[in-house]
Amino acid sequence: MKVVAFNGSPRKNGNTYHAIKIVAEQLKNAKIDVEIIHVGIKPIRGCIACYKCAENKNERCAIEDDVNKWIQKIKKADGVILGSPVYFSGIAGTFKCFLDRAFLVASVNGGLFRQKVGAAVVADRRSGGVSTFDQLLHYLHYAEMFVPSSNYWNVIFGLKPGEALMDEEGIQIMRILGKNMAWLLKLVENGQDSIPKPERENKIFTNFIR
Ligand SMILES: Cc1cc2nc3c(=O)[nH]c(=O)nc-3n(C[C@H](O)[C@H](O)[C@H](O)COP(=O)(O)O)c2cc1C
Repeated sequence: MKVVAFNGSPRKNGNTYHAIKIVAEQLKNAKIDVEIIHVGIKPIRGCIACYKCAENKNERCAIEDDVNKWIQKIKKADGVILGSPVYFSGIAGTFKCFLDRAFLVASVNGGLFRQKVGAAVVADRRSGGVSTFDQLLHYLHYAEMFVPSSNYWNVIFGLKPGEALMDEEGIQIMRILGKNMAWLLKLVENGQDSIPKPERENKIFTNFIR
């Protein structure tokens, strides 16, 4: 089994990375492979609302950059971890650009990420962690993913890179998340041959008035 983890921080070895790494350690203990991809430093532009992904249905974003490669990585994986630093109480900009594009492509191409296991983690100095965590969950839920939880919301504290390793409670939150994620991945793997999957329904797409 394989999980692909995305680090949305421009700082490769910052606190978001440490949060991801603690979760990943538990997955590795359970013999699940983890690949960490550093997104936050890449020049990724935002969605331009061209809807070519819906028109072409080729599992690609019309903007040709690393996003298309990463979409396929998620498609092939059993699970995903989305990790973001908190910037002004929200997802870091570059990371949001990636998520908007990848999850739109996945949605309009038949639900590429559907029924995978997806977790979210965030790192911040003081506040905005929960609102950022909530924002990340929106992507996972929209994609019909199964979301494992921990014993609190998945936020770790620190300002400078590595300070998160002093946040004892944050470390426990990530560790428990990793254990629960590993277990859920195994439940899905072992159960899917014996318990039929619910069929995918075509999305009813209204704009409130019609
Ligand atoms: C542009 C910017 C905005 C930030 N906004 C917040 C914020 O709203 N709340 C907060 O607690 N920390 C904020 N921080 C601090 C980071 O969230 C914190 O340093 C975090 O550990 C960064 O994670 P990283 O090491 O993975 O980059 C901000 C940092 C930057 C650079």
